[in-house]
Amino acid sequence: MGSREFPYRSGVWRFRELIHPLVKDKEIVSRSEGDTTLYSHKKVIQYTGIENIFMKHEGENPTGSFKDRGMTAGISEAKRLGMNLVACASTGNTSASMAAYASMAGMRSIVFIPEGEIAFGKLSQAMAYGAQVFQVSGNFDDAMSLVQKSSRELGIYLLNSINPWRVEGQKSIMFELIQQLNWSSPDWVVVPAGNLGNTSAFGKAFDELEKLELIEEIPRIASIQATGADPFYRTWKEKKEELKPVKDPETIATAIKIGNPVSWKKALRTIKLTNGIVEEVTDQEIMDAKAVIDSSGIGCEPASAASVAGAKKLVESGMIDKKERVVCIITGNILKDPDATINYHLGKLKGISPRFPNNPVVIEASLDAVRNVI
Ligand code: F0G
Repeated sequence: MGSREFPYRSGVWRFRELIHPLVKDKEIVSRSEGDTTLYSHKKVIQYTGIENIFMKHEGENPTGSFKDRGMTAGISEAKRLGMNLVACASTGNTSASMAAYASMAGMRSIVFIPEGEIAFGKLSQAMAYGAQVFQVSGNFDDAMSLVQKSSRELGIYLLNSINPWRVEGQKSIMFELIQQLNWSSPDWVVVPAGNLGNTSAFGKAFDELEKLELIEEIPRIASIQATGADPFYRTWKEKKEELKPVKDPETIATAIKIGNPVSWKKALRTIKLTNGIVEEVTDQEIMDAKAVIDSSGIGCEPASAASVAGAKKLVESGMIDKKERVVCIITGNILKDPDATINYHLGKLKGISPRFPNNPVVIEASLDAVRNVI
């Protein structure tokens, strides 16, 4: 923190030796990602009952999600290898990030997205940044298996989080967090979980920090899934060593609407290493938590609120103690999915009755009308 020089002003490349020591300056494609804020707010403290709860806002990254941290590492590696065509499957944020970084590097990019299932903010970014957009008929898991086949057969460089450089870049969320806490560990890190790249990356980050003696204790990681898209939760709950995919995942949090997460094995390693846990939260819990985060002025997209909803649930079940220090990862920006936000406040989301609605008031264009409603 503090350096204004390229590439060290980036919250990823500041930790270059722990992320990609071999990459040269001229190969690095960076938009000064990271350096995201650690927030605390009394509304969230009251809502969860946790006195020491913080939110690290990864939605403050250049394209509005944590994906930029893994993407700067992945695209830089693609450049190092001389690639000029990259691809990913995505529930939206990875595609937005990859499209931007590929265009900055002068590469072509193709995104495979499930047709009609990603939030408009994200689709608009992928189109605008210049990616070729393939709308796959099917869900994210179908798009994921198609992009894996395509990259194997057609020599396209794959940039999903099964690409190890993506995971390397995402470790920096934890490096930066520990630095922000003056090189001390929180008791818990709570993270929304979909394809499980982040959960995997966090475990690897803490393993390395401990081996380097930069931390004394490894925080416990709580991975939070949406109830309708919870294969990893089921694996953990049933103490299995295999994952049974959820065939038709369903949740309002489209970013984590994933039935067959690719990184579940690495993520399970993280949960074991950190003495962590896996929890699930309903769409109602996600959207109410989002309304609290939003109305505190911080704001996020639905999937991100799974972290705060999860922390609240874990306090209520006694797993997290009210006095412990808890950091929730806010993964994406509030502008990613305005439809979900507006429909929540208007009470138009199927199966969800908003606990914290904020309805617009229609008034006549007169001072009296204003006087009557304020
Ligand atoms: N939150 C947001 C906002 C996301 O976009 C994602 C994943 C997650 C949480 C879950 O993270 O996959 O590392 O467990 N989005 C991916 C995408 C799948 O394609 O944008 P994870």
